[in-house]
Amino acid sequence: MKNYFLLAALLSAYFSLSAQHKTRVSFNNDWKFKLDSVGSYSDASANDASWRTLNLPHDWSVEGKFDKNAPAGTGGGALPGGLGWYRKTFSIPATQKGKAIFIEFDGVYRNGEVFINGHSLGIRPYGYSSFQYDLTPYLNYGNDKNVIAVKVDNSRQPNSRWYSGSGIYRNVWLTTLNKSHINNWGTYVTTPQVNTNEATVNIQTNVVTAGDSPAVLETTIYDAAGNTVASASSPATSEVSQSLRLSQPKLWSIERPYLYKAVSRLKSGSSVLDTYTTTLGVRSFNFDREKGFSLNGKRVKLLGVCDHHDLGALGAAINTRAIERQLQILKGMGCNSIRTSHNPPAPELLDLCDKMGFVVMDEAFDMWAKAKTKYDYSNDWDQWHAKDLADFITRDRNHPSVVIWSIGNEILEQWGDEKKGDTSGRPIARELAGIVRSLDATRPITTANNNPTPSNHIIQSGALDLIGYNYSHNNWKNFQADFPARNMIVTESTSALEPRGHYDLVPFDSIRRWPSRWDKEFKEGNPDLTVSAYDHVSAPWGSTHEESIKPLLKYDHVSGMYIWTGFDYIGEPTPYPWPARSSYFGIIDLAGFPKDVYYLYQSVFTNKPVLHLYPHWNWKQGDTVDVIAYYNNADAVELFLNGRSLGKQSKQGDWLHVKWRVPFTPGTLRAVSIKNGKTVLTQEVKTAGEPYKLVLKADRSTINADGKDLSFVEVDVVDKNGVLVPDANNLVKFSVSGQGFIAGVDSGDPVSMESFKGKEHTALNGKALCILQSNGKKGTIMLTASADGLQSQTIQVVTK
Ligand code: GAL
Repeated sequence: MKNYFLLAALLSAYFSLSAQHKTRVSFNNDWKFKLDSVGSYSDASANDASWRTLNLPHDWSVEGKFDKNAPAGTGGGALPGGLGWYRKTFSIPATQKGKAIFIEFDGVYRNGEVFINGHSLGIRPYGYSSFQYDLTPYLNYGNDKNVIAVKVDNSRQPNSRWYSGSGIYRNVWLTTLNKSHINNWGTYVTTPQVNTNEATVNIQTNVVTAGDSPAVLETTIYDAAGNTVASASSPATSEVSQSLRLSQPKLWSIERPYLYKAVSRLKSGSSVLDTYTTTLGVRSFNFDREKGFSLNGKRVKLLGVCDHHDLGALGAAINTRAIERQLQILKGMGCNSIRTSHNPPAPELLDLCDKMGFVVMDEAFDMWAKAKTKYDYSNDWDQWHAKDLADFITRDRNHPSVVIWSIGNEILEQWGDEKKGDTSGRPIARELAGIVRSLDATRPITTANNNPTPSNHIIQSGALDLIGYNYSHNNWKNFQADFPARNMIVTESTSALEPRGHYDLVPFDSIRRWPSRWDKEFKEGNPDLTVSAYDHVSAPWGSTHEESIKPLLKYDHVSGMYIWTGFDYIGEPTPYPWPARSSYFGIIDLAGFPKDVYYLYQSVFTNKPVLHLYPHWNWKQGDTVDVIAYYNNADAVELFLNGRSLGKQSKQGDWLHVKWRVPFTPGTLRAVSIKNGKTVLTQEVKTAGEPYKLVLKADRSTINADGKDLSFVEVDVVDKNGVLVPDANNLVKFSVSGQGFIAGVDSGDPVSMESFKGKEHTALNGKALCILQSNGKKGTIMLTASADGLQSQTIQVVTK
């Protein structure tokens, strides 16, 4: 009996292997890597035995040292660029002869040139494009090895206004197909007609048939539970158009991001030649010049954030869990939309937005033909823009989350002297919009304009569906008069400045623009390069958070706004020069710790009860401190200092906070929010004593043993009574054992010179972060954090 089961298992394994018509496997592991700008290692025979072995995704810049003279500048994060080589040796079984074998790169920053067994397959300058190559003509089978070599050249700097990272920083895939197959990005799904009774799903499929005819393309739509809900079958020509009907479809929305799957099967007789799965969501949306954005007929104010692609201490190397954590934190503040500033994102970001219910403004470029930095993509513009844009749309157009295409951010072609014939913004905008519409006409096209006036050449081109405003919040109200018959979105707003947890003792309502003008040298500022986190400092082109939330809420025609930024990012350390090296703009710091304004958004844009009291309560006797509360779901907040009431405050008119001016005495500040005489929430802030011990909190205490999953461990420096010490800056040392390693350390400090890849980090205002990563094995990870003179702590994370 035993033998019978063994035989059956073997046979079924054999048949499933031989019947396998397609595999798409991660090609991330066991690459060799060397930084070397001199040698050439494209030949299969090159000796890479002494090179470092690593798994992708990989960003070599984040491993480097911050350097004042880094060619990327502080704008680029003051980290090194350079030229690096990656090589991977692999074999393909002889049984795969006759198959079509492709390699897909989700992104290589930048100038990735790919060689297979010494043949160059091409070079891709734009570091944010996904691309693939057909390896088949150059492969060896059986015992003969193959070598892929990738030359990544990020040596010409600066080429970016923010931190880009360097290397094969996104995933790589190897796909093996029959010669007859469905092309990668080969389906295009639209839902031209949607209501709760019925939806039409149109699917176009791009098929390669190689003599397997007569072939048939069967498309089946499955609901989330795996039930078949519609299907169609057609003769397989190179372009197949099918139209399917779903009755009583479950609509995709921000609250319930319901996803279907369309499975396309290419068949010849009863044998399946290829299977291709497309995730789809059934939804309709609209932008209206009076009423703004609506999803499935329901009005929704888009509360969006702009984010760059770096993941803090992980650098640019993408990690799905790290992106998911960012989105979870954003969801928690009421954010419902993401702008992929200013480039095509990792595919995983859009997958997560589909799943988690975010709508997306998917953006292609930060510049066109006119350069913003010397070696940027403008140098590649003429040769590459049409292909990069077309590939971007083709890759992303099936995501239900994507509702806006942005073809550029603050493009310099907005301006140009008409008398001198410099109106290139018009034809370029028309050309780009034409490319987009030829591939997808279901989403509006915008550009993010820092000159949102009728004189802007890009707006004058007539190519845009949505007029995108960057900043200019005082002009949002005039939009309808300025742009008759157009729809509006605030593509970028705010640019307020604050690191987490630092407050200047100046009145809350003394608003500062740092620097005072964009073209003026910054002479103000704090000697220690801090900025006050009271939401009263912004860049001169921007506004405080409250200044931009108010007109967003007030004007219906403002469909939504994208705050600069959700998370801090490496690079662009406005307003300070070196040694500042990362941004101060985030609502959330680089380590992922929310700043106070996070709760401002939460109180306005979510229904969950919020009461947030700040600042900390460690001041000097004699100081007068503005105490702020953000709250909702209540009529008033009463503040007590050491049990004595300092009075009740209620939001009046368009207020978004309440405040008290309080002479400082150590002790406990206690806020109580009240509705109809009943307590809704209370929050306390206590004067902390000396740092006494470290407290560790893992965001997840069990992670997958898959070599990728992460646990983000927060370190709090607390006093004897467990109160966070708000100015603690102890050096925290980490040691790890078991089935994981430290993937990054941080504190959110934009001025720290410590490595993100070290085993220690100085706390910023009482907090630090250690990111643990599974090494692929099951078991436990033990992490100990210690600091001189403080009680240490150890925690365990299970990997399974
Ligand atoms: C905007 C720009 C962003 C970022 C921001 C900083 O003008 O679009 O990329 O530079 O300013 O405030």
